[in-house]
Amino acid sequence: MPFSIPNTRREFLTAATGALPGIAGLTMGIPPGADSRLIFSEGRIAGLHLRNRLVRSATAENAWRDAGMTEEGISLYRDLAEGGVGLIITGYMAVMAAGRSSDLQTRIDDDRFVAGLRRIPAVVHETDRDCKVVAQIAHTGMQARVTEPVGPTTTPWPGTKVKPRALTEKEVREIVSSFAQAAHRAREAGFDGVQIHGAHGYLISSFLSPYTNTRTDQYGGSAGKRAGIVREIVEQARELVGPDFPILIKMNCDDLVEGGVDIQSFPALAGEIERAGVQAVEVSGNNPVREKTIAGGDQPYFLKYAQKLTLKVPVILTGGNRSIEHLERIAGAGFPHFFGFARPLIREPGLPALWKEGRGAPEAACISCNRCIRGFGKGMFTRCRVTELDL
Ligand SMILES: Cc1cc2nc3c(=O)[nH]c(=O)nc-3n(C[C@H](O)[C@H](O)[C@H](O)COP(=O)(O)O)c2cc1C
Repeated sequence: MPFSIPNTRREFLTAATGALPGIAGLTMGIPPGADSRLIFSEGRIAGLHLRNRLVRSATAENAWRDAGMTEEGISLYRDLAEGGVGLIITGYMAVMAAGRSSDLQTRIDDDRFVAGLRRIPAVVHETDRDCKVVAQIAHTGMQARVTEPVGPTTTPWPGTKVKPRALTEKEVREIVSSFAQAAHRAREAGFDGVQIHGAHGYLISSFLSPYTNTRTDQYGGSAGKRAGIVREIVEQARELVGPDFPILIKMNCDDLVEGGVDIQSFPALAGEIERAGVQAVEVSGNNPVREKTIAGGDQPYFLKYAQKLTLKVPVILTGGNRSIEHLERIAGAGFPHFFGFARPLIREPGLPALWKEGRGAPEAACISCNRCIRGFGKGMFTRCRVTELDL
């Protein structure tokens, strides 16, 4: 049975579990007597056993000081692990000192940070051994704020005025190597895997986009060549982390600009990314944090893009997931396999447990006011700021 686009409840249950190559024979899905709702069925990403289909999408914390995370940041991860989510993806971590968005961004660009990073998986696993945590690794490219903005060419990302410097091939190779080393540090620190940040106009996203990447060397041109940077990262990382450490990616399904990735070109690009060796694709897009997302409205807003995919690896759909009933209906159609949440878990880290236990409302309390992200932009710790009306 192909893993892609399962059409039935049974296929949803086996798709992200025992049907994956190399793990046949595992009894997974819904154990006898357990919650029969699909989003609470067990799942798998590469060798990672996940207790449900709910994923905390990467959410930058603004909690890094010197060589470690503040107590506030560590508490955030404790709350998430306690809150019942199956997989936590951390906020983006800088793979290079040059390529950071701010001094508050978590760093994974040097071995001296491994000790500080270790506290994140430690607190998650100590809180709940069944909760998994993956480090998101990133280079902010032309959105770098403390260092020089760089990109595949000098074309600014749509909607911004920052004209980046075009990277040389040698510099691209250095960045590839930095991602691979960051993946290795993530493993050393005790994370359960890494996710390459390939979305939202950051460096990898700008290489994947035909709008910003008009290079004529080995890193530009066809979808396969634009995906070359990811292929090289995965190859080099694999050498360092071994065969069993999961490598995921988050990518744009739509750059929201004429000439960028769009609903027509996304499936083929995602196919190239899968061939590059990533083991799960999280679907996001430009303008990822849409305001005033309402349940039953256009949520989740990238669903129609995810439905175009015919990948063999699991797909995580992120952006505007707010209602358990709506998600259960989507899951009932068999695809996508996992659902990512960022803002709802900023407001209610315990939302998965509330839903599972039937306590609380079937809708997330988050109203997508985006004060959390505005506070983040001002260097404030990431938390719900719905009552801070001046933000
Ligand atoms: C405060 C904040 C920080 C974020 N940081 C990241 C990040 O580090 N990496 C990333 O890929 N996406 C980041 N995102 C985007 C989310 O992962 C997600 O794609 C987006 O918020 C849409 O999902 P939602 O509707 O569940 O919030 C951030 C979003 C918010 C609100």
